[in-house]
Amino acid sequence: MSREILIPNAVNKLVQDAMYGRASRRDLIKRGSALGLSGALMGSILRFSSVGAQSATPEAQAAGWSITKPAWLDVDLSGVELSAVLASDGVGAPFDQAVCDFFAEQTGATVNYIKGAESATDRLTYYTQTLNAEASDFDIFQVDVIWPGILKVHAQDLSAAADELAGDGANFFERILTNNRIGDTLVSIPMYTDAGCLYTRTDLLEKYGVAAPTTWAELETAAAAIAEGEVGEGNDAFVGFTFQAAAYEGLTCNALEWVYSNGGGTFIEADGTVSVNSDQAKAAIERAMGWVGGIAPSAVTTYKEEDSRGIWQGGNSAFHRNWPYVYGISAAADSDLQGKFSMGLLPKGDGDGADNAATLGGWNMMVSKYSKNVDAATVFAKYMCSAEVQKARSIERSLNPTIVEVYQDPDVLAANPYISELFPIFDGGSVARPSGVSADLYNEVSTAVFTTVNELLAGQQNDVSAALDDLAGQLEDIMQDV
Ligand code: GLC
Repeated sequence: MSREILIPNAVNKLVQDAMYGRASRRDLIKRGSALGLSGALMGSILRFSSVGAQSATPEAQAAGWSITKPAWLDVDLSGVELSAVLASDGVGAPFDQAVCDFFAEQTGATVNYIKGAESATDRLTYYTQTLNAEASDFDIFQVDVIWPGILKVHAQDLSAAADELAGDGANFFERILTNNRIGDTLVSIPMYTDAGCLYTRTDLLEKYGVAAPTTWAELETAAAAIAEGEVGEGNDAFVGFTFQAAAYEGLTCNALEWVYSNGGGTFIEADGTVSVNSDQAKAAIERAMGWVGGIAPSAVTTYKEEDSRGIWQGGNSAFHRNWPYVYGISAAADSDLQGKFSMGLLPKGDGDGADNAATLGGWNMMVSKYSKNVDAATVFAKYMCSAEVQKARSIERSLNPTIVEVYQDPDVLAANPYISELFPIFDGGSVARPSGVSADLYNEVSTAVFTTVNELLAGQQNDVSAALDDLAGQLEDIMQDV
């Protein structure tokens, strides 16, 4: 039986249910046996049920243990009720709940934590539907680094709050502040920054005598060799490489890395020129098409972050592309991966101008114009982005700060040893999606990109050249309306 057949959607669902504690152990075993899963695979899946839902802190302390109070947070908000849309239901939820509880204890406010959708694309739909109706269902909400142009009309200006944090010594990354500023309005305050990274099973590199790959071609060879060996030893569930290729924003991020790292540009360049059908872009997408059902499972075209991490976390993937949050969970005391992996730069291609690329991601705090408690909501946003909470978020969740000084904190460095190598990436070296140039139409751009690329990867379209020429036409049409 080939590996790709072994990871159908029903197995995915089983893994997810195990990770999020949505099913009992008994139920998982029953379903696994109905699917005919091997004992080894079932063992890995059952391990998720104890790993996934736990805290990412190395000593598995209670979530929120490292939060300290910003000195300025001496505000009495008794009687005020705030609703905040934060992390999705999953590994980040216990920390965000603790952050809300801490704020409530300190200020007397009531804070309702609303769990946002895992998919950035679905989250944006929820936000725009609610905000277009001018509804006050939430006061504060975390927004993606690509959305300032889309959501600016609903945002309260947070310039004064960010200036207060700066006055307190918070030196925010200028690039992200600029990204979040539209005209004179600071639409959101930077909360954490993200960059796409490669996770590597260093123990398996050693086992098979394979060098750490620096190009995509080397990754392909290494992934295939390791997977062949592991499958040969009886782990049918083992694959070479996992990433995010479902039809949603995450695929736009992955595709940008493939294309940019091959010298193919950023789909739309800063001057508005559409480049998505350049020869290097076509070659990069064609290469990725070859991974599906080969070094990557066929089901990768349905994977978002947590689906792909499930395979990695279970010890069933040699390489894994994801954001830095995976570091903390993989290095945790209760993780089977502890001491067996590294986190670093994604490979580069071999086209002209090939270079390493990490897509710039990250989240920011926005206050809704329709909030009935704008002042209190602003205090909450400020607290969420303060150096104190950013430090705790970095220590407990390996989410990277947006304040330069926090990177110098010894506790932060100890919890995230990769930071010294990757700091230049976080501090401006990552590649931005074309959200500035397409402004309020960025979601149309991204949707066109991820739809086409997903169809190519899933084999619903095969002619990469024709598909990307057609996509270029769509992007040109969208850009006419910006
Ligand atoms: C991460 C990034 C975000 C990106 C999303 C895509 O959450 O921080 O910027 O849009 O992944 O899935």
